[in-house]
Amino acid sequence: MIEVKHLTVKYNVKEAQAALDDINFTVESGERIALIGANGAGKSTLLLTLIGVLPPSSGDLCVDGIPVKKDTLREIRRRMGLVFQNPDDQLFMPTVEEDIAFGQRNYGLDEETIQKRTAAVLESLDISRLEHRLAHHLSGGEKRLAALAGVLVMEPAILLLDEPGSFLDPRSRRNLISILSGLSQTMVIATHDFYLAQKLCSRVILLAEGRICADGPAEEVLGDAALLEENGL
Ligand SMILES: Nc1ncnc2c1ncn2[C@@H]1O[C@H](COP(=O)(O)OP(=O)(O)OP(=O)(O)O)[C@@H](O)[C@H]1O
Ligand SMILES: [Mg+2]
Repeated sequence: MIEVKHLTVKYNVKEAQAALDDINFTVESGERIALIGANGAGKSTLLLTLIGVLPPSSGDLCVDGIPVKKDTLREIRRRMGLVFQNPDDQLFMPTVEEDIAFGQRNYGLDEETIQKRTAAVLESLDISRLEHRLAHHLSGGEKRLAALAGVLVMEPAILLLDEPGSFLDPRSRRNLISILSGLSQTMVIATHDFYLAQKLCSRVILLAEGRICADGPAEEVLGDAALLEENGL
């Protein structure tokens, strides 16, 4: 469960305009929420703040009752995984295999288990062929899938996904939607892909200029053409 109360985030304390301004919502366990909004609305900022990469300027943030702050980050990241908007921010080990193994090694899993889980996640995303490739030589879509693999393999109870479908060809995107729809995890998915949002999420939160301007059933929010148009979508 995620609880966000009066959350405000400013990248620059001197700036009048906050990137996120008095954000309030709760995500129940098992819920899948799409976070939509025009470029610069604050979607990525919100996901980065939820997982403790960005510090809030004010407000409260709890994951399963644990406040998100410096000394709880280890605990928070055990429960929650983020797939970054830009896969280059995520992949940092030389090869795909090492990248996917990294988090598992950190948790002290044995090498045999790591190998099995790595092979299984690559297979599920249909990218077994990439296992020994250099991460920085991959195409955009391949990088996206490798980054997803590194997070999915950890099986965090909460998945934060920032534009998970971007760079993917139609078949990989369909496969991703089918994989995610088969998972029972709580998800918050920032996306411009309304098809993906509709397929996966029962609830949609619409952000505009750092504020929540709609939070409701997916069919209601995504079906409100005037509301979407008004907010740059
Ligand atoms: N590192 C940063 N320093 C200063 N301002 C930033 C930084 N990152 C983002 N911003 C600003 O914060 C606001 C929200 O950006 P954010 O990246 O959260 O938007 P977004 O909704 O994810 O957009 P997109 O759809 O383009 O991914 C924007 O005005 C952006 O310019
Ligand atoms: Mg973004």
